[in-house]
Amino acid sequence: MVYRGGPGVGLAGFCQRSLLAFLYTPASMLENMFVLGFESSCDETGVALVQTRANGVPVLLGHALYSQIEMHQAYGGVVPELASRDHIRRVLPLTQQVLSESACDLARVDVLAFTRGPGLAGALLVGAGVACAMAAAMDKPVLGVHHLEGHLLSPFLSADPPEFPFVALLVSGGHTQLMRVDAVGRYVLLGETIDDAAGEAFDKTAKLLGLGYPGGPALSRLAEQGNPSVYKLPRPLLNSGNLDFSFAGLKTAVMVQARKVALLHACAVEALPTPVLADLAASTQAAIVEVLVKKALLALGQTGLRRLVVAGGVGANRSLRQQLGTACVRHGTRVHYPELHLCTDNGAMIAMAAAMRLQCGASRTSKSYAFDIKPRWGLDSLE
Ligand code: KG4
Ligand code: ZN
Repeated sequence: MVYRGGPGVGLAGFCQRSLLAFLYTPASMLENMFVLGFESSCDETGVALVQTRANGVPVLLGHALYSQIEMHQAYGGVVPELASRDHIRRVLPLTQQVLSESACDLARVDVLAFTRGPGLAGALLVGAGVACAMAAAMDKPVLGVHHLEGHLLSPFLSADPPEFPFVALLVSGGHTQLMRVDAVGRYVLLGETIDDAAGEAFDKTAKLLGLGYPGGPALSRLAEQGNPSVYKLPRPLLNSGNLDFSFAGLKTAVMVQARKVALLHACAVEALPTPVLADLAASTQAAIVEVLVKKALLALGQTGLRRLVVAGGVGANRSLRQQLGTACVRHGTRVHYPELHLCTDNGAMIAMAAAMRLQCGASRTSKSYAFDIKPRWGLDSLE
């Protein structure tokens, strides 16, 4: 078969191993392959269908998502057992929705992909179990996908996909990492948080301020009304010179400040007047964003790269996007994000990561149906 990659593809350098893969893999296995992906690592059930193309990024044909946020809100956080049970309830109707909206018959699906880890064990087992059961029934192969690789490659689902190589800032509820990404499957960890993740810092501070769960979006909404310079909060490891982060101390600093103000107002922290809470929220957000922006620029400086990808739930944060945008224009760097609705967990990123790995030969499917999930799994240990 002829490799037709080129300037028109918009993804020059798409996986350096792709040429070899193309040489040794029959064309029919790479083109028009339908990959159905399942995401169930935490509190979102996502299902999506993508189709590979001969010489470019796979295309998203359809996706459906059910967020369990409302259910967990009553408990102030994710309850793993409830999450697993709800994934079971949602996954098949969502699958039917995706297939009917994409006008694709289940029998036409070539590969069933699922989030293998990291995540909640019981929740992961649902996606893995469903993918393996469907695949076994149809004698089709499966592929387990790394959740963070899904986030990392999610900007390829956007209208403005990046080209390799790039620096990736992965900012989710469980991870804060800077990676150098040379191709699909070729990731070098440059730095990461030594304690809490950025999303965790948003969530924990939001809880402290009585904003409920999940805290990130609520805190960032409230922060829009506040003044970020009212409270002086620490910027942990800002000038450490390396690419590590530390956010655990921030919530304690916010707590100390919040309790002081609450004493003055003779009320509980959550009962503080909205303008005071907004200033606390804005000051917290400013501290997190300043550290993320500075370290992302440091990573670009150290690698000499001029492309940045921001992925994971915190990538939806408006202030982070604004400040990274300004800093990167000054630095001559292009920033790529997933579509706003694909920043948080979804099935599209899992189907996409599976399709991209298969397309460039970084992964092979299996028919073992062992659904061997990996609740703890570092992206840097991915083969
Ligand atoms: O990537 P994600 O959906 O799940 C994980 O893989 O962890 O990220 C969820 C995290 C949560 O901590 C949530 O509070 C945060 O992303 N988040 C935000 C925003 N939207 C979601 N944090 C700050 N600002 C936002 N707009
Ligand atoms: Zn995630």
